[in-house]
Amino acid sequence: MTRLVVATRNPGKVREIREILSEVEGWEVVGLDDLGVPESPDEDGLEEYQTFQENAVAKARYFAHRTGEMALADDSGLCVDALEGAPGVRSRRFAPVDEARGERQDQSNNRHLLHLLRTVPDDRRTARYVCAAAAAWPDGRERVRTGTCEGVILREPRGTGGFGYDPLFYLPDEGRTFGELPPERKNQLSHRGRAVRALMRSITGVDGKGPIA
Ligand code: IMP
Repeated sequence: MTRLVVATRNPGKVREIREILSEVEGWEVVGLDDLGVPESPDEDGLEEYQTFQENAVAKARYFAHRTGEMALADDSGLCVDALEGAPGVRSRRFAPVDEARGERQDQSNNRHLLHLLRTVPDDRRTARYVCAAAAAWPDGRERVRTGTCEGVILREPRGTGGFGYDPLFYLPDEGRTFGELPPERKNQLSHRGRAVRALMRSITGVDGKGPIA
């Protein structure tokens, strides 16, 4: 078994990444909490870049050095066409009020999104989730892969599953939001599922490009 640290403080991401990785053989997955890595103020400055890829690599690199283990990080967000790609890399801190992390922050973000889209007609509410999944090793090796998932922003929330913008993110082919889909179905279709599986394929060399040097 090769050990890997899921390098995120977001409980929704930890849960999903663990579930996605449970389908990949040969990996022992541990969280920052399992290793007793205390939260540090440095972590707030890790997401300062303009791309998901750069932010994901910065987080993976930071935690690989801090833990001395291979680290897997995710930077992700929602890109709404009618808002020219916003909130994008700023998805976590989208609402103008500066609330603590967690559910209250998710709710403010969702309210803010609905407010900005209040005059946008149904056929122009298209959006996509984007996820960059990065791996970094203490010796300096790094890899990153991206996944996307297309959907539509509803006018009111539906379902209580997932986290963040999920109750507003509707998948027309499924006839349900990510908040309504069972977790395993979300992981099959999601930006995070696609990015993490592509990353693991690239690390193990199953993608035909050779294992990581
Ligand atoms: P990050 O920690 O900077 O990567 O912020 C990611 C933010 O994007 C989260 O806090 C959510 O607001 C949003 N987000 C990313 N992935 C998802 C998802 O799968 N469901 C719902 N919201 C998501």
